[in-house]
Amino acid sequence: MATTLRAIAGMPMIDSLAAALRQISPSAFLRLSPSSCTNARILASPTTTSSYAHQTHAATKKSRTVYSLAPRQFEAAAAECDREVVSVLGIETSCDDTCAAVVTADGRILGEAQVSQANMLVHYGGVVPMLAQELHAQSIDQVVEEALANARMLQTDLSAIAVTIGPGISPCLRVGVTKARSIARVNRLPLIGVHHMEAHALVARLMEHKLHFPFIVLLISGGHNLLLVAQNVGQYVQLGTTVDDAIGEAFDKTARLLGLDLRKGGGPALEEIALQGNPTSFPFAVPMRNQKHCNFSYAGLKNQVRLAIESQKINENAPMSLASAEDRQMRADIAASFQRVAILHLEDRCRRAIDWARKIDPTVSCLVVSGGVASNNVVRTKLGAVTKEHGLQLICPPPRLCTDNGVMVAWAGIEHLRLGIFDPPPHLDEPADAWLDLRPRWQLGEIYAEGVSKARSLKSSGGIPSLTAQVQTLLRKTQ
Ligand code: KG4
Ligand code: ZN
Repeated sequence: MATTLRAIAGMPMIDSLAAALRQISPSAFLRLSPSSCTNARILASPTTTSSYAHQTHAATKKSRTVYSLAPRQFEAAAAECDREVVSVLGIETSCDDTCAAVVTADGRILGEAQVSQANMLVHYGGVVPMLAQELHAQSIDQVVEEALANARMLQTDLSAIAVTIGPGISPCLRVGVTKARSIARVNRLPLIGVHHMEAHALVARLMEHKLHFPFIVLLISGGHNLLLVAQNVGQYVQLGTTVDDAIGEAFDKTARLLGLDLRKGGGPALEEIALQGNPTSFPFAVPMRNQKHCNFSYAGLKNQVRLAIESQKINENAPMSLASAEDRQMRADIAASFQRVAILHLEDRCRRAIDWARKIDPTVSCLVVSGGVASNNVVRTKLGAVTKEHGLQLICPPPRLCTDNGVMVAWAGIEHLRLGIFDPPPHLDEPADAWLDLRPRWQLGEIYAEGVSKARSLKSSGGIPSLTAQVQTLLRKTQ
């Protein structure tokens, strides 16, 4: 492909690529930006729908689109074409943030927008699915328009749409996926269904261009704790997951019980007050110290903290601002003690994960830590020390890219696009109530044999194969 392109390099870019792709396959279709011929946005894919793998969803008899892998020539074309002009819109609505962003294949963030539902945490103490869906529906058009306006682009200038299809809250995912499909359908753009947790992991490669596979990943968010070896895009070995609650959930719950101001989020509020507390004042037990695996548990710690708060007679309905100096100090001490132990659990698991990962691949040299809780400064410092101990490099995306955002989804889309993994634009006559491929529970990696397999996310993955299993099946078929 590279030779072909060079051989006709004298032709204008758009003609040159079209000619090259016609040589590969007469059925190839080119998506070229209608806005300019010198600034072609190009994506190639086979037009015949038979090239796309479809799997019948047994229960509903609806067609579930499995990732399609375009022929290798198209990978080459995608890599060879002017990477600067490939731009992907990413849409994220899996939980309580409505996010969109436009990112280019050479890693420039052209535009971003976000509407957060932080008030829901304040009023209801957590995410209420149907209310969250309504709020996403109210914001999605505005957020997408704002991201495009910030990027100074029109929908017609885009090369592809990436959207989170799971894991997450089903009605919330539906809002983003519906919007993404409608833009892709009208503008005849390829679609990439993104795994939310993979997006958290891959965004590290947007920030750190020299981050090569394999690497270890710790993902810590409101709904997940995951330790993985990332072997490639779409290919992960799962070393550990949570057997009950995720660490972010424990931060949020503790912040609420301590009566903290939740408007900026439970985790950030707890981190802030913990700065004033004594982290060794409450001797909470570190979870699962005697269990020699990489799984996590935060339910027990949450319970220990609740008991401590009750025994100190702290009233969660009395805001910090009205508490006495003594009461405030007590709350700060509990917050600091909780945070210390919550992070000690991460440190224990990361140490073991490094040993396991080195058995899987001795060349691993980085630990990526991402997801909302990775924006915590103590987490970063403590895990920085663990990686140093083991001669590894710690890579944490900047805090705004650790919490949910549209950039990570757009970037995950680009990473898949580069491998030729995407779906064709939806049919022009797709009905508004079409069945959607949403994956509220969706495992990312295949479990490492030495791992303990009792974790919640494994039990309830809903029969959907992991992303890794899907991608590996696809790769085997095309070899
Ligand atoms: O990744 P994320 O934005 O959303 C999910 O996918 O869940 O993570 C949100 C979680 C929340 O539980 C939030 O309290 C926590 O990340 N978080 C933090 C901090 N910033 C956000 N936890 C501890 N310290 C922080 N600074
Ligand atoms: Zn997240």
